[in-house]
Amino acid sequence: MSREWFNQARFGMFIHWGVYSIPARGEWVRLIERIPSSEYERLAWEFKPERYNPEEWVTLAEEAGMRYMVLTTRHHDGFSLFDSAVSDFTASKTGAKRDLIAEFVEACRKRGMKFGFYYSLLDWRYAAYFKGPEKDFEGWAGFIEYVHSQVRELCTNYGKVDVLWYDGGWPWDAAAWRSTELNAMVRSLQPHILINNRSGLQEDFETPEQRIAASQEPKRLWETCMTMNDNWGYSAADRNWKSARQLIHNLARCASGAGNYLLNVGPQADGTIPQPSVRCLKEIGAWMRVNGEAIYGSERCPFGGGMIGLTTAKGNLVYLHILRWPGREATISCVKNRVLSARLLTTGQEVQVAQDGDRVSLRGLPNRPLDPYDCVVALELDGKPEAFRYDRHVP
Ligand code: GLC
Repeated sequence: MSREWFNQARFGMFIHWGVYSIPARGEWVRLIERIPSSEYERLAWEFKPERYNPEEWVTLAEEAGMRYMVLTTRHHDGFSLFDSAVSDFTASKTGAKRDLIAEFVEACRKRGMKFGFYYSLLDWRYAAYFKGPEKDFEGWAGFIEYVHSQVRELCTNYGKVDVLWYDGGWPWDAAAWRSTELNAMVRSLQPHILINNRSGLQEDFETPEQRIAASQEPKRLWETCMTMNDNWGYSAADRNWKSARQLIHNLARCASGAGNYLLNVGPQADGTIPQPSVRCLKEIGAWMRVNGEAIYGSERCPFGGGMIGLTTAKGNLVYLHILRWPGREATISCVKNRVLSARLLTTGQEVQVAQDGDRVSLRGLPNRPLDPYDCVVALELDGKPEAFRYDRHVP
């Protein structure tokens, strides 16, 4: 079932790439700088990504421990990375003369990597988009026809697609986009697809952006998307990179709420991923190779990591992620179960457990953290984790 792989995956790669990578000031450059169409269109003829090799992207995602990839097939600027019968502003009809999406799909499929299509409903090239369905009835109808046709192409021409990641529905609602009809068409063509919640309809999963917010409904799928610096699309001057430590903590926080972390890269115009992103993703990957079992398929644990970190769970196992190393002894509380044993994922070593009621202490830990970012201890419980409330009087 399609929900299942997504709920196991936990970590994915988001990719924002298009002609905006040439000016290299982020993907909103056209609207924010009010670049005239004629000038912006010229970029498409310069866009010849000689070093685009999607297999390298897949390799990097694999190395980072990512289980799926979502690429911008068309962003708000209207440039399609795929071949489209209803647009000339596409990679296949301009400088690149290639269907960049077809190549991406082929690379993912070859390596068994799940993939999704980001698609912006809005397109800044259409005046009708700005006017809306009421003020420009006919223009809007034509615009919607174009959007629906492109979604149909994406769902028809590339075989099985795992995720459809809409964006840019604002300020119009599902009725204006005719989203019910649109998504019914998508599901008839792609019965296994997962659709996000940005077409004005709730569909399959929530997409908090740049913030970690577990769904209020425990069974509902959710995915936080986030940038590694301050931009989605490539921004040459943006050096405000988050550290591997921050990103691993974010991933662990998503996993603790049984959600996914879709971490973005913004490739350069030539098709290469910026080095700071590459280095950082490899570092995360090294951590994932040791600690992946505490992330993939994680469940929510009713008791947390207290003052030192957070928890994820799987069946009778609870993973204590120690994000702030307390020294030789680490304590958590509110544990209703008996803790039978504890093991450090970093070394495989057993850890001594002392339990006093709901308080559980791990003893004889090294003074300094074995893992500088997130040191995980697997606790084996006598059953599924259960918790006491913490806001009770302490005698
Ligand atoms: C926003 C932005 C966009 C980015 C997206 C990712 O909607 O408009 O540029 O693609 O967020 O979540």
